[in-house]
Amino acid sequence: MTTKTDAKGTALITGASSGIGAEFARRLAARRHRLLLVARREDRLRALAEELLREYGVSVEVLRADLSKGSDIERLRLRAAELDDLEILVNNAGFGTRGRFVGMDPQKQHDMITLHIIASAVLARSVLPRMIARGRGAIINVSSVAAFFPLRGNATYSATKAYLNAFTEALHTELIGTGVRVQALCPGFTLTEFHATPEYAGLNVRARVPGFMWMTAGQVVGESLRALERGKVICIPGRRYRLLTRIGRLGPVAEIRKLVAARLRR
Ligand SMILES: NC(=O)c1ccc[n+]([C@@H]2O[C@H](COP(=O)([O-])OP(=O)(O)OC[C@H]3O[C@@H](n4cnc5c(N)ncnc54)[C@H](OP(=O)(O)O)[C@@H]3O)[C@@H](O)[C@H]2O)c1
Repeated sequence: MTTKTDAKGTALITGASSGIGAEFARRLAARRHRLLLVARREDRLRALAEELLREYGVSVEVLRADLSKGSDIERLRLRAAELDDLEILVNNAGFGTRGRFVGMDPQKQHDMITLHIIASAVLARSVLPRMIARGRGAIINVSSVAAFFPLRGNATYSATKAYLNAFTEALHTELIGTGVRVQALCPGFTLTEFHATPEYAGLNVRARVPGFMWMTAGQVVGESLRALERGKVICIPGRRYRLLTRIGRLGPVAEIRKLVAARLRR
């Protein structure tokens, strides 16, 4: 596809076929980054690529991959390693589940750990040497406020997101002085397709969670990119969520757990 001469380095975004990932693609295309968009729904990626080419004239490559599969992670790793202008990696692909750990499909848990943790770590390991050599670049790991609240019914999800926060914070300390920035983006409830899966069918999360708790993908991604410029490592979009996680860190997770459980039981 066409490339304009003023285009910036490539941004690789996983889970770009909807929600937060698609919003990152739009924002970064508007900033004239070339894009490599990854997800399983290739038709969605192609439609987005056409929109971004039309709108911003940037070059967009589409790669269909199921990042819960080792072979597809490896395929993407090899492609990412070929990019000598990779400037931003957004490890965003993810999904949620409901139900207690013992009752859940073990394969689903395995897929979640592979997608949230293995794929993110493999891609970061693959692109960092070149970013460090160039003295520039950024990695955004899309985590969740769930990282701060290990709640019932969310064991594997919360744990994988807590991994992303710890991983990002530690990586940050290793990268000081290299010119490479890292961020763990921790959104709260965001209006995307996340709760539209069969997993959440019948729960009607949108109606149960009060309106003021919802943010748009645009608000989340806007805060993330502004925080990246300021070098903020843990980015929690929305004042209400910053407050909530601060309270959570002080300890009363048990009370918050009861409140959330009561609301979801109704
Ligand atoms: N929405 C929220 O309330 C919320 C809150 C906190 C954190 N988050 C996090 O935000 C991130 C983005 O989610 P979202 O809210 O934007 O939800 P979304 O609209 O459902 O988007 C999820 C993206 O991940 C991709 N994906 C899922 N499984 C994949 C797989 N096995 N391989 C490759 N790609 C896969 C999906 O694409 P395909 O289906 O086409 O593969 C889609 O592009 C996730 O990491 C999620 O945990 C969301």
